[in-house]
Amino acid sequence: MAWVIEAEGLRKAFGDKVAVADLSLRVAEGEIFGFLGPNGAGKTTAMKMLLGLVRPTAGRGRVLGHPVGSRESRRWAGFLPEHFRFHDWMTGRELLDFHGRLHGVGAAARGERIADLLAQVDLTDAADRPLRTYSKGMQQRLGLAQALIHRPRLVFLDEPTSGLDPIGRILVRDIILRLRGEGITAFFNSHILGDVEAVCDRVAFLKRGQIIHETSLREGFAPELHLTLGAVSAELVNGLASFGKTLRTTEREVWMRVAAEADVPEVVRWLVGQGAAIYGARVQRPSLETLFLETMGPDERAG
Ligand SMILES: Nc1ncnc2c1ncn2[C@@H]1O[C@H](COP(=O)(O)OP(=O)(O)OP(=O)(O)O)[C@@H](O)[C@H]1O
Ligand SMILES: [Mg+2]
Repeated sequence: MAWVIEAEGLRKAFGDKVAVADLSLRVAEGEIFGFLGPNGAGKTTAMKMLLGLVRPTAGRGRVLGHPVGSRESRRWAGFLPEHFRFHDWMTGRELLDFHGRLHGVGAAARGERIADLLAQVDLTDAADRPLRTYSKGMQQRLGLAQALIHRPRLVFLDEPTSGLDPIGRILVRDIILRLRGEGITAFFNSHILGDVEAVCDRVAFLKRGQIIHETSLREGFAPELHLTLGAVSAELVNGLASFGKTLRTTEREVWMRVAAEADVPEVVRWLVGQGAAIYGARVQRPSLETLFLETMGPDERAG
């Protein structure tokens, strides 16, 4: 497996404020990796450390095979910052040209690449207007084009779909999916879980500067099993615990998490063996939102 991001114990403290306590993760080439967590969890700081924009207090890492912070590690990386800012007197085309030159894209290739990217982010018609006339969504889309100007092998996108209308979000999602088709790795932060679910191969959950859970979204999460029974006794609840984690019970219902869908017939067989009356057994794939709330725990729900 070729890893494009490898981090071990990366830590960042601002004075006595620990923004990232321990970032240890690996992202494989071609993966679309989602980085989730509540406000202030340390997502942006972690991303900036990987980009070499924030110097780690401890730990080490490699990006695209080179040590974090080195020029080589940044060379084929693209970045859409959380709050993309630029000179508002420039036109969209000029901004892309400027970033293309910064990245050493030759003049001939630049013109063609810019036209292609402007079309991808649906800004061809606005290309020669000054940026101060762009809406928030247009600025965000231009920021994405900027991140891709030098054909990076890895892109870091800090909330790429924030501020976008549904059409803009679908457009950005399609661009990310196209990147995957080209074998480009994307590492992105988002609070819009529907977008994450739509494009990510894998996600990590960050809480107070630490990754507390990682899961593939391709293989599906552990499903939720909703049982409706004649009666839910303490014995049944105890017995069911050996098949998975009980999430909630009422007098006649049990919601539990099983490891795989294939465990469901076993649960049902066991219940029948116990003489339980089964009125219903339904398997649900939990939404990423459910998983997020479950992973973060009740103390993060208030905001
Ligand atoms: N330059 C800084 N100086 C001091 N504290 C900082 C600095 N940058 C970030 N922090 C703190 O570090 C913590 C993590 O911030 P960070 O911006 O990485 O979070 P985030 O997960 O990206 O949040 P959000 O979802 O709101 O964008 C926060 O408590 C923040 O206040
Ligand atoms: Mg952030």
